Amino acid sequence: MQIHETIPGVRAALRTAGRIVFVPTMGNLHEGHITLMRQARAHGDTVVASIFVNRLQFRPGEDFEKYPRTFTADCEKLITAGVDHLFAPGETELYPEPQRYVVEPPAEHADILEGEFRPGHFRGVATVVMKLFGIIQPQAALFGKKDYQQFMVLSSMVREFALAVDIIPGETVRAPDGLALSSRNGYLSADERAVAPQLHRLLQQTVTAIRAGNRDFTSLESAAMTELRASGWLPDYLAVRRKIDLKSPTASDSALVGGLVVLAAARLGNTRLIDNLEI
Ligand code: PAF
Repeated sequence: MQIHETIPGVRAALRTAGRIVFVPTMGNLHEGHITLMRQARAHGDTVVASIFVNRLQFRPGEDFEKYPRTFTADCEKLITAGVDHLFAPGETELYPEPQRYVVEPPAEHADILEGEFRPGHFRGVATVVMKLFGIIQPQAALFGKKDYQQFMVLSSMVREFALAVDIIPGETVRAPDGLALSSRNGYLSADERAVAPQLHRLLQQTVTAIRAGNRDFTSLESAAMTELRASGWLPDYLAVRRKIDLKSPTASDSALVGGLVVLAAARLGNTRLIDNLEI
């Protein structure tokens, strides 16, 4: 695997790369990322990963400083997964001057759910992904569906800017007890880790109720949030939404069970976890 720290370096190395498949990450790689890397191989000639902890998508007081940086271990995993190139720029390489030109996703996509609790987050994500696409110039890029809203925002960005990149979803990878793999799981204490799979269990419970014909989404949402609170979580949201645009389903959508997704974000101690299940 070739490692590139500069924009001219990675551009030069990819000049004859054929069809490029790109998997952007913030590092601290787990099996979810590695599954994306392996999946990437089937979509092109050259697999390029990036590692960059993007300050623009963190709010003051969030975990930008303490976000785990595990570069050596990450490189070993990427080599094992067969990645061809890694772009790992420092901050001054990607942001040599303050980033004044930004991608501003529409409020209806970016100010709901995650965006309500992390204002500006999707502006930061969309801006860095647009910039990384400009540098790597991939023909395809993979994003995990654990970050469901991110996948929706980035797919919409690519569609509306007519970017020549196929956006490919990766399934969420879970621990045997159901907890979605996430770099932030490492923040959990042993006691919190034992409670954490409950988030997935409550999503499953909600999905099961909807599949069984329950259409009282508001009651299902508040019942699940109440259970979370009773176990010590501080839920930000647990919401049944339409997959297509993450809006609340209307009465007529309610029949379209296959078009729904249940999304949740909740804090356990100092750790904020997100998860979702498609119906
Ligand atoms: O999902 C992530 O790790 C990040 O949001 C991404 C897409 C790499 C942008 O920084």
